[in-house]
Amino acid sequence: MAASPAGSNASPQNLRLRRPDDWHVHLRDGALLELVAPATARTFARAIVMPNLSPPITTVAAAVAYGARIRAALPEGSRFTPLLTAYLTDTIAAEEIERGHREGVFTACKLYPAHATTNAAAGVTDLARIEAVLTAMERIGMPLLIHGEVTDAEIDIFDREAVFIERHLAPLLVRHPGLKVVLEHITTAESVAFVRQAGPNLAATITPHHLHINRNAMFQGGLRPNFYCLPVAKRERHRLALRQAATSGEPCFFLGTDSAPHPRSAKESACGCAGIYNAPHALESYAEVFEQEGALERLEGFASLHGPAFYGLPLNEGTITLVREPHTVPPRLHGQGEGGAATDLVPFHAGQVLQWRLAEEG
Ligand code: DOR
Ligand code: ZN
Repeated sequence: MAASPAGSNASPQNLRLRRPDDWHVHLRDGALLELVAPATARTFARAIVMPNLSPPITTVAAAVAYGARIRAALPEGSRFTPLLTAYLTDTIAAEEIERGHREGVFTACKLYPAHATTNAAAGVTDLARIEAVLTAMERIGMPLLIHGEVTDAEIDIFDREAVFIERHLAPLLVRHPGLKVVLEHITTAESVAFVRQAGPNLAATITPHHLHINRNAMFQGGLRPNFYCLPVAKRERHRLALRQAATSGEPCFFLGTDSAPHPRSAKESACGCAGIYNAPHALESYAEVFEQEGALERLEGFASLHGPAFYGLPLNEGTITLVREPHTVPPRLHGQGEGGAATDLVPFHAGQVLQWRLAEEG
């Protein structure tokens, strides 16, 4: 990473980073895909694209078709590569997963506990049911990406991640010590500690929003549905642990935005959807955190180096530049929804000033 003025203690005005990747994003489909894909492709060279469409991506053929729709939604000349994932269900066949991996279609598999979140109804009801799939993935070195929350109604929503680790993740890692696992979008100090003490086959992604907000954000002066996501933001001590982990330089923590757009009408509703749309300023949002933590020199590791190393993929060629240029994030982004109807998205940091701006590629 190059920062200028080089070697001085003054705040740098420019940050040049190897081009980063987003290891967890929701690009959706149809009109929403067309609206959001350019924002991710502008910043990131690659992204692990979540398969929780309706219906979910459970076959190689569906993934190939989805990959083509993503490419069609990119701006002319974009070099962005979507890395597709398979949505695990109770009945998915290990052969389909293996074939998708062998053919370069599936980079990883996503485990949603059934009913854990958006379009997770077809998720896994019991890990025992996918034992053959997990065994195959372990054998072929295919990463398992986990939404780590239990869904039992009697478990407090703020405890669901910690209970998942204890009941499901820890035993899973013992049963499959060779399986590469990413615990996605971690939200607690306990998750940070668990990932740290595990071996090199466990890593975690951390979102920008969990670094910026704690659970108070959802209730600041009234109910704020645009800060609602899953796993839900936790107490301040957890946010601080996440900031320490992300900026620590440890290779087991890397960037995954979990950018999860929903139309404003679906967020600002009596039963609002979970998800925060952060793609338009994701890297700028992370840069803000790294600067506040005095760790700007470690942003490149988190954003561009640790993820490829864990996935066993090459580093990206080329660089991007962040420029210190305070700017206000628009309160709304306007686009066309299904059937051409107007759709608004409320971006993360709506109406706030961010210090860094991604320079357009030269
Ligand atoms: O907040 C979330 N939104 N969390 C998830 O796990 C899913 C995502 C979505 O797809 O909307
Ligand atoms: Zn997600």
